[in-house]
Amino acid sequence: MRITVYFSPNHLDELELRDKTVVVIDVLRASTTITYAMRAGAREIIPVETVAQAMKIVGNLHSTSTVLCGERGGKRIEGFTLGNSPFEYTEEAVRGKALILTTTNGAVALTKAKYARQCFVSSFVNLSATVEALSMIEGIASEHLFILCSGREDDFSLEDATCAGMLITRLLARFGQNDSEPLSDSARAALSIYQHYGSDIYRTLRESDHGQHLLELGFEADILAASQLDSVPLVPLLEQMAIKKKLVFSDTMRVLTEDDRQITGLRKPELSVPAIRRAEVA
Ligand code: MLT
Repeated sequence: MRITVYFSPNHLDELELRDKTVVVIDVLRASTTITYAMRAGAREIIPVETVAQAMKIVGNLHSTSTVLCGERGGKRIEGFTLGNSPFEYTEEAVRGKALILTTTNGAVALTKAKYARQCFVSSFVNLSATVEALSMIEGIASEHLFILCSGREDDFSLEDATCAGMLITRLLARFGQNDSEPLSDSARAALSIYQHYGSDIYRTLRESDHGQHLLELGFEADILAASQLDSVPLVPLLEQMAIKKKLVFSDTMRVLTEDDRQITGLRKPELSVPAIRRAEVA
């Protein structure tokens, strides 16, 4: 497997990810929050870059089941219903709703992946689930995987790079290293960062620039939540402009289902993500 890591979406043209397999990481906090929101039963999440775009979409939809969500500077945007703390995304707040989400970095990274063939939203809370989801793709071992870190303010962020390195470590353990495809420089860099900073994820997150900022804003619990490895074993999938699907795994990382309707057994589960082969369903 060839792996390229982008440490920030800055300067990345969205056409570069066209028809590619992509993992978007924003540990603090958009990927973590999106994963919580999908667990809580959000119908769909539409990431957008700007506040103006979010307002426009919500205005066009005219729906009571649409919720404006997001942050600037880490704080809930004035007039928006939800900010970007995973704990705000309760069942009561989001079940069955369409969330229009704009965040400073994560939403921007997601919009860069809108032409991807398949795009997985990842962070520490669903890291093993991400590995499982990727391993369901036919021929993944010989594919080129793109990991897009959201970074911070158009720049590098330690927590996303550490998470990318952990993901690469797990993928190499699963698929082995292909001698004819040496690791790219960016993948090697992410691996080194993980080897240095990955032994205490909570500490790394707390001490990172963005962690420090969130601490100042009083979001210590969010940092702790974001550091909890494999605490939410589901993977949100971005298809074109929206996250509507999720792959749900059991604690033993067996894929259970694609969405809640299937969990309750109302219809026969069948994964419909392109290029992901049908999985055994509990
Ligand atoms: C982002 O997308 O910039 C982050 O999720 C910021 C935050 O912590 O809310």
